[in-house]
Amino acid sequence: MKIQENISLKSFNTFGMNVVARYFATFNSADQLKEMIESIDTENKEDLILGGGSNILFTKDVDGLVLKNEMEGIEIIEDNEEHIYIKAGAGMNWHQFVLYCIHHGYAGIENLALIPGSMGASPIQNIGAYGVEIKDVFCSLQAFHLKDKCNVVFSHADCDFGYRESVFKNKFKNQFAITSVTFRLNKKPIYHVTYGAINQELESMGIRELSIKAIAQAVMNIRNSKLPNPSVIGNAGSFFKNPEISNEQFTLIKSSYSSITGYQTTNNMMKIAAGWLIEQTGWKGFREGDTGCFDKQALVLVNYGKATGMQIFELSEKIIRSVHQKFGITLQREVNIL
Ligand code: FAD
Ligand code: EPU
Repeated sequence: MKIQENISLKSFNTFGMNVVARYFATFNSADQLKEMIESIDTENKEDLILGGGSNILFTKDVDGLVLKNEMEGIEIIEDNEEHIYIKAGAGMNWHQFVLYCIHHGYAGIENLALIPGSMGASPIQNIGAYGVEIKDVFCSLQAFHLKDKCNVVFSHADCDFGYRESVFKNKFKNQFAITSVTFRLNKKPIYHVTYGAINQELESMGIRELSIKAIAQAVMNIRNSKLPNPSVIGNAGSFFKNPEISNEQFTLIKSSYSSITGYQTTNNMMKIAAGWLIEQTGWKGFREGDTGCFDKQALVLVNYGKATGMQIFELSEKIIRSVHQKFGITLQREVNIL
């Protein structure tokens, strides 16, 4: 166990922001985490549990302890005819876990292939893509309460999952370190191929018989075609959430902009594409200095090299203002701003 001081976080966040952590340490067990928190008095300072840093925009140095979760390991909890209950350490790479499950024929998360980041962060915003969210296969998680220093188990209901939401982004923000997550995966796959261009991609891949492997590959192909690779261009995926608007507001916008698409949510609202709104306000492909709005997917803000977190944040403010001015819709950020 080693606590380092004044460490650059540049290689620990996918935006590539060169901020400094006053203290930095890695941990690979809950006991180690406890020891570390106790050994350093960071009362009233900003402590942060860090995964892959793929959903964070650092706008300043971190005056506290940054703890990088490196708890790995996979454990089969239960195996029956229909399901497999599988537990994974929070420090495990999410995509590696998806590949492991595909390799073993465990179905349910193939549509979530290639999402960057760690296992432990996956429930924080209920990661989702191509018609699947982790709440669909989530069973429970274990977490460590940072102040009370005790382990707590969260059931599905405890997490209060929503679109890019959970209790860990709200009521319990920064209070817990998630240490493992357990999923209930299917032995007999239920395929989700209706979202977006999956069917089209499967067709162009020449797939005649569906499989979880083929679906994951289709998803990876689509993602690679429109999302920037963070190791080449700094980004944190979608910067904003897709907004929900009333049916009346949707009809009104559609009367002037026939290309708008949306889908009905369970609470009788219309979910619309923030990327479309941003494109319509002229930001797609915009670049100023090293900040930019990606030219293949307007929902992704990028750092072409030396942009600062504040510059990216300011760009996001301008985009919010433009979209609000033109459509009367206020975009909400999806990325965690620190
Ligand atoms: P971090 O960025 O390290 O942390 C995010 C938040 O979670 C922080 O508040 C952090 O303190 C907290 N946290 C992290 N680990 C723990 C833990 N163990 N315990 C407690 N708190 C913790 N997201 C999607 O949902 N769908 C997508 O399709 C998608 N595509 C993406 C594409 C790209 C190119 C990129 C760069 C990002 C994308 N994302 C997507 C966003 C991101 O990958 C996910 O939100 C991911 O779950 C973040 O994981 P992380 O480990 O990098 O979290
Ligand atoms: N669109 C545009 N212009 C753009 C981008 C998108 O008009 O520049 C419109 C198009 O009509 C397109 C529609 O938006 O058909 C949807 O685009 P896409 O399929 O790329 O998905 P998204 O709604 O922009 C969401 C998630 C992604 C996730 C994909 C696939 C959010 C905030 N984003 O993006 O998640 O991978 O769907 O399911 O919900 C992330 O959270 O970081 C992320 C990348």
